[in-house]
Amino acid sequence: MTTTGHPTALRCAHKVNPLGVAPDWVRFSWELEGTGGRRQRAYQVHVEPDEPPQIGGETAAWDSGRVDSPASVDVPCRAPALKRGARYTWKVRVWDEAGTVSSWSEPASFEVELDPVTGWQASWIGLAPTLEPFIDPAKLHSDRVTRALAPSPYLRREFSVAKPVTCARLYMTALGLYEARLNGSKAGDAVLTPGWTDYAQRVLYQSYDVTELLRQGDNVVGAVLADGWYSGFVGFDPKRAGAHYGTAPELLAQLVIHFDDGTEECVVTDGKWCGQFGSIRHADLLMGEYHHMPREPRGWDSPGFDATGWQDVQRRERDGRWLVADPGPPVRIVEEIAPRSIARDRAGRFIVDFGQNLTGWLRLRVDGPEESHVCIRHAEVLAADGTLYTENLRTARQADEFVTPGGTATFEPRFTLHGFRYAEISGYPGDLDPADVAARVVHSDLPATGQFECSQAWLNQLFRNIDWGQRGNSISIPTDCPQRDERVGWLGDAQIFARTACYNRDAAAFFSKWLDDVADAQFPSGAFPDIAPRMHLDFAGAPAWGDAGVVIPWTLHKMYADTGILERHYSSMTAWMDFLERDNPDWLRSRNLGNSYNDWLSPGDDDTPPELLATAYWAYDAALMAEIAQAIGRDDDAADYRALMAKIQSAYADAFVSADGQVASGTQTAYALSLHVQLIPDDLRESAAGHLVDAIARAGWRLTTGFVGVGYLLPVLSSNGHTSVAYRLLEQDDMPSWRYMVDHGATTIWERWDGWTEERGFQAPVMNSFNHYALGSVGEWLYRFVLGIEPAPGKAGFSRITLRPHPGGQLSWALGSYQSRWGLISSEWRRDGGAFSFRVRVPPGVTGSVHVPSSDPYEVRDFRGNQPVAIAGFPGAAGAREAVFDVGPGVHQFAGPALAEEPYV
Ligand code: BGC
Repeated sequence: MTTTGHPTALRCAHKVNPLGVAPDWVRFSWELEGTGGRRQRAYQVHVEPDEPPQIGGETAAWDSGRVDSPASVDVPCRAPALKRGARYTWKVRVWDEAGTVSSWSEPASFEVELDPVTGWQASWIGLAPTLEPFIDPAKLHSDRVTRALAPSPYLRREFSVAKPVTCARLYMTALGLYEARLNGSKAGDAVLTPGWTDYAQRVLYQSYDVTELLRQGDNVVGAVLADGWYSGFVGFDPKRAGAHYGTAPELLAQLVIHFDDGTEECVVTDGKWCGQFGSIRHADLLMGEYHHMPREPRGWDSPGFDATGWQDVQRRERDGRWLVADPGPPVRIVEEIAPRSIARDRAGRFIVDFGQNLTGWLRLRVDGPEESHVCIRHAEVLAADGTLYTENLRTARQADEFVTPGGTATFEPRFTLHGFRYAEISGYPGDLDPADVAARVVHSDLPATGQFECSQAWLNQLFRNIDWGQRGNSISIPTDCPQRDERVGWLGDAQIFARTACYNRDAAAFFSKWLDDVADAQFPSGAFPDIAPRMHLDFAGAPAWGDAGVVIPWTLHKMYADTGILERHYSSMTAWMDFLERDNPDWLRSRNLGNSYNDWLSPGDDDTPPELLATAYWAYDAALMAEIAQAIGRDDDAADYRALMAKIQSAYADAFVSADGQVASGTQTAYALSLHVQLIPDDLRESAAGHLVDAIARAGWRLTTGFVGVGYLLPVLSSNGHTSVAYRLLEQDDMPSWRYMVDHGATTIWERWDGWTEERGFQAPVMNSFNHYALGSVGEWLYRFVLGIEPAPGKAGFSRITLRPHPGGQLSWALGSYQSRWGLISSEWRRDGGAFSFRVRVPPGVTGSVHVPSSDPYEVRDFRGNQPVAIAGFPGAAGAREAVFDVGPGVHQFAGPALAEEPYV
């Protein structure tokens, strides 16, 4: 007998056992494990306070009772009052369609965020910056930049523990960056904490379970601070080199110890802390880190250290800043990469190649005399003479230095970040053994959820490059690039890449966190910023950039069925919609376009009219807002947004679409956007798609799209009968193309199609990053069309799916998967002679329709013997057809005659 699956993989607010979650973010999800073919009909969630109350004191339990619902994702917690700071465990059981109930899941837990204002008794503490301890400026390459950088304060406080401890939590944050220390150990494994927000409004804190680090008797809690985004160099504005939010870092901490006897004690940052500068001469995200290792006060973070001479800290009362538990995934050291090769340049410096463009830093072991001065520089690419090419870093230095302590020592920075594949090491004593150097890969730790492989090696490399681009640009926020003096959260890049990002990796918590930054940065006019956090910049409202404020919440809903995110940002989104409508009474978005980056970095002239692109995005917003309003039960608003969409559609058609389906300007982006957003009247779609193909042919079968058009081009071709043209663009190896990058050694996605060309070499260094993910938005097409994995039409989330592969081009097979919130979905197809085989995996509790394209769909066979429910037109190729099967959970296999090979048009 089949039974319903057993609930597993429990998550709360998209996280596994979060130690800090805002009460209104508490939403549950689980997967159904096992072979059960039946679907969930009902669930019961039970939430229990920690028993006996350890954290949070007396709190009430809550039980949902049996709830008739197939939902296993986005399940609300309706507990009347979740207590601030309390710990809860929760479990779930489910009933299937036959009424069989599963056993209870293993318990999971969550801890509720402290009250952002009253939950804290701590004060901000810091040390007045000084260069005093580093009195050898000659060795510091002293210049304007290094003089602007300050040493890292080390802060400590002793306390004693006299009773048996049940558990302990350390809540810590900084204005700046901190590393938490307790009795000689680092608390947790996150780095670059607390992450980047608009510190004037909102500061994230992290919660650590430090029960195991405490000991009876004397203890020391401490922290090392650095400038980070708060007071270091950030972004590109030379007028504000450094100190965007404040001038020196400060720490806020609260250690709460729960004793076996039911009492609790709190050690907070206050006047009892003392501080000193240690070995870190400076640590800056853009510039790098400098350690004078002999100066390290060894043992400073453990009991028994002689802190004579350490200074009193400067203490300041808390102000109105909102202190919230970090809702995003931590930045971590996620991987270590060994050198692929080590060479020496003409000056005798070591040039280390890690074979992969990445973000992070080096760990370097030395064995040699005291006071050797070692310098490490980082670059993404090499110049023709084999030296580092660093011109494209602009003013970012990406250089780490250290002075050796004598003997064996290991150097590793922790408050900086470099985008690099190559490192140049000078001043290293002796020969460099490959075992002594490693690249530490650092980024927000987003679990991998997507996999893609096919018969073309170069395309597999492209897929890896797309993922590495995402990894390197997930650094607390989605950044544009991780190397030059920019590294900021451009909304346009993020929105075009968001769908790909969510397939590649579980990005729900990451984008949820950033959407708060976007909301914090929204202008009183309702305009969304172009960059979030926006620092002091007043860039706002640019088409395709500001629209991210609608597109990204919608994307999260589409991928994770998250309605919480829609509720949370609904008023921001409507304010944006009002802002657009206010100035554009004729339903054409031609006013207030802000910086209008248009189809940014499209090759050649950017001929797409800015008001066309802007109006298309307005229509897109209106359509998405109608879906969003509907999803959260605001039916009247949904109707209003549908009416708005109709008005924009008609104004757009009048202004830009001719009677034969031509779109003004005739650019590929103009067609792709118009078709994607349904701005072409139905009876003209086919001819408009034909005009798009003509435009591509005129460009020599090359794309001409920039950051915006690129995301829609292949999906639009495949949705309108031109998959063969999509493959032709994909497989194009002349510039501009994805393949050109891969064929020329790219291991990430370049900012520009012509970042480097055989004819010209490097593009102008002023804007030429080799790690920008926007052009990697083609990943979405690989998942949704090549593998054919997506939510069923009109559905948010993957509880019902469509599996519709689009074979084509040179591919003889492709396989891949997506680890959805509902479980693993996989797709694998093969073309062999005239035969096509297709194998899919559907997770427990999920249903789907499988579409097998074929030259003779009546001959397509389901290995289980099921008959197709329909024979229909296959949208990917003109005149082609598909056999459609209804499937439930499990593995299904199909075979039949392949589609007729389509000649390259
Ligand atoms: C960034 C882009 C960004 C753009 C705005 C550039 O400097 O690197 O990725 O979207 O400016 O046009």
